[in-house]
This record gives sequence, C-alpha cells and structure tokens, in this order.
Amino acid sequence: MADLTCQLGPLKMRNPFVLASGVLGTSNRLLERIACLDIGAVTTKSCSLNRRAGHANPTALDWGAGLINAIGLTNPGAKAEAENLAAILPRLHEEGALLFVSIFAKDVAEFGETARILAQVQPDLIEANLSCPNVADEFGMPFAAKEDTAAAATEAVKKAVGDLPVAIKLAPNVPNIGAIARAVRDAGADVICAVNSMPGMIIDARSASPVLKNKVGGISGPALKPIALKCVADVARAVDLPIIGTGGVCSGVDAAEMIMAGATAVGVGSAVYYRGVDVFQQLPAELAAFMDEEGYADLESMRGKAIL
Ligand SMILES: Cc1cc2nc3c(=O)[nH]c(=O)nc-3n(C[C@H](O)[C@H](O)[C@H](O)COP(=O)(O)O)c2cc1C
Repeated sequence: MADLTCQLGPLKMRNPFVLASGVLGTSNRLLERIACLDIGAVTTKSCSLNRRAGHANPTALDWGAGLINAIGLTNPGAKAEAENLAAILPRLHEEGALLFVSIFAKDVAEFGETARILAQVQPDLIEANLSCPNVADEFGMPFAAKEDTAAAATEAVKKAVGDLPVAIKLAPNVPNIGAIARAVRDAGADVICAVNSMPGMIIDARSASPVLKNKVGGISGPALKPIALKCVADVARAVDLPIIGTGGVCSGVDAAEMIMAGATAVGVGSAVYYRGVDVFQQLPAELAAFMDEEGYADLESMRGKAIL
C-alpha cells in the first residue's frame, strides 16, 4: 500500500489532503467533524481583524461546470476567532489533523496585527490570503496581484508570528505567478498555496442580470482545475517551496495530477459540495489505489513528474 505521509516544509501530515479555506472551516463543530475523517490538515475560513457580515444573498451557485461564490469573507473577527480556535485545537491534534489558520486584511499593518492575534493560538501554520477575488470593491486590487504588495504583506505576517510557518495564498489571474512566488519566497514565505478561486460572472439572460447579488464572484471546482494545475506547475518551476495545490480537486486521480504538477499537499474545497463531507474519507483511499496501480511507493516519487 502506497505511503501517503506528507512532509509540508517543517510539518508532517498523515496524508496530503487539506480542507481549503472557506469551505466548512467556519465552526468548531465542523472542523472537528472533518478532523475525525482521514484528512491531513484543516484550514479555517479567512479571518480579519474586525468582524465582517459578508455579502447579501445569493452568495453561491452551481453553474454547471463549477461553482461561483461571493461570500464576502464573513467572519467573527480575530479575537473571537482566536478564542474559538484555542478551544478546538487540542481536539484536532488528538484526531491527527493539523490546524491551518487563514487570515486576510485591508492593509499591511492590519495583516501584521491579525496574524499576531491568531498566532497566539499556536496553530500549525498561518495562511495569509492575499488573493480573495470578492472584495475588490472594498479593498481594491488583491495583494497577490503584484510582487511588491505581496512581499510587503508576507513580511508583515512573518514578523508577527514568531516561529510559526507561513503559507501565502496566491491568485490565478496574474500574468506571471512564478514572479509573485519568488517575491513572497524572498520575503520569507515557508509554503505557497496555489490557488484561490478565479474571478468570474454568471448572468441570467432572461432577467438580464448577474445571478450573484455581488454581481461577480470566484470560480471554483472542476472549471478551475486546468488553471490551477498550470499555476502550480509555474510556481514549482519558479521556487523550491512546498505548494498546497488547490483548485478543482474532486478525486484521488485529480490529487495525483496536482502532485505531478509539483504540489506537495492538495487543497480540497468544492468537492465537498459535489461529493459530501465523506469525500475526506474517500480521497486518501482513491489516491493510494491509483499509486498502487501505477507503482508509486510514496508522494515524493510522483511529485513534479508531469513537469520534468
Ligand atoms: C464557498 C467558498 C468560500 C471560500 N472562502 C475562502 C476564504 O475565506 N479564504 C480563502 O483563502 N479562500 C476561500 N475560498 C477559496 C478556496 O479555499 C479554494 O482556493 C478554491 O475554492 C479552489 O479550490 P476548490 O476548487 O477545491 O474549491 C472559498 C471557496 C468557496 C467555494
């Protein structure tokens, strides 16, 4: 049976599967439920310094080839989130899952402050979401759009969290994601998460209207997979950092593709909509079966195979 243990930088995980941010990582009971399944790590919903209500409904839709969402980063604020997570962290570890805490902010100083508050929980990793596509009206261009803004946010988070590893979550809609990856590596990033959802819009022709109240949203699920695979391959060629390859993974074979593009771990979000929560029990078994069939003894022997 193939060995699925995964070394993500300094972190050892029982398998490469990571619950992606924003999908179920919104309450302690859901985090615990998923940790009890066969998952390597769970990522929390992105959290800001202050509480946010998020966007008005409708905020999400299955449009046929993927999902679109504009939740608007609903969260309870950093202090309340830190209290919640401190209460659940021992349970997650008991179940064998790591805790990745996702943060976002409107400016560099706030990135530092939010990271400092959540680092007190001592999660296994802090993930800085520099790439939410759904709040551009409020915050302007995402930090992940340019090397200098991405590097400045990375430095602020690194400085605030002491020894905790930091992942930087990048956007797919940039002309040169490798250059952004190099900039955040040079600013101290330990891990890259690639990618966030892709900005998009769904229109209902009969009503001549966008379907989401926010008009635009982030595309995820199957439609995102080829885009994510290219982004992961570009990042893997550009930097020697572990990558959490995220976007459209719905099966064990999808996960193998992500690892063959150069990913070390594999983020999974929309698959929960398509296959239910138990997908986290099924994905490791599917990946192991594929590896056994193809003669891969461990993840390292498969990593980057498609981009050699
Ligand atoms: C409903 C929903 C909410 C999301 N919220 C967040 C979020 O708060 N922070 C973040 O970094 N990514 C967020 N994402 C993006 C996912 O973490 C992931 O990067 C993206 O959906 C691609 O993976 P998937 O195709 O497996 O869903 C969200 C995605 C969905 C579908």
